[in-house]
Amino acid sequence: MTVRTIVIMGVPQLIAGAKNVVDFQDPSLLQLIQDLQDTQRHFSGAGLAAPQIGVNLRVIVFGFESCSRYPQREPIEETVLINPEYQPISQQQALDWEGCLSVPGLRGVVSRYQKIVYTGLDLTGRHIERTAEGFHARVVQHEIDHLDGFLFVQRLHDPRWFGFEDVLDFDQTLSD
Ligand code: NI
Repeated sequence: MTVRTIVIMGVPQLIAGAKNVVDFQDPSLLQLIQDLQDTQRHFSGAGLAAPQIGVNLRVIVFGFESCSRYPQREPIEETVLINPEYQPISQQQALDWEGCLSVPGLRGVVSRYQKIVYTGLDLTGRHIERTAEGFHARVVQHEIDHLDGFLFVQRLHDPRWFGFEDVLDFDQTLSD
């Protein structure tokens, strides 16, 4: 078990973008995935992307049975996705609060596609394709954003809906 240090906002690696995995035989890939899972669980993240532990590869992990950072949310199947992509199923977007382990203590409202199809490969190179909506779809979009060098802070819907989680009113009405 290796809990890695999480890179926080301001470190250039987080906005650099990441490269596709090409060598699925490389033993360091398994180590990376285990470190991502250990680190995600340790910090109770909904997901984690490789750049957040300083690795410049397109690998994400997400999912939980229950998550103390997002206690109201339905479980998401624990998933490893290598070279992931997504497509919106419709143009419908939804507003909701997001946080990020690389932006500790802060939450902000981001507009995301409500329903997506996502694809990627697992550790064995097997193709994964799933439909997701709501928070599950949001988490996947957030994690793939990390691979493209975007933090949720760069996508804030309205800078007034951004602040410290200890004092924010998450029950306020979000509307345009
Ligand atoms: Ni994040």
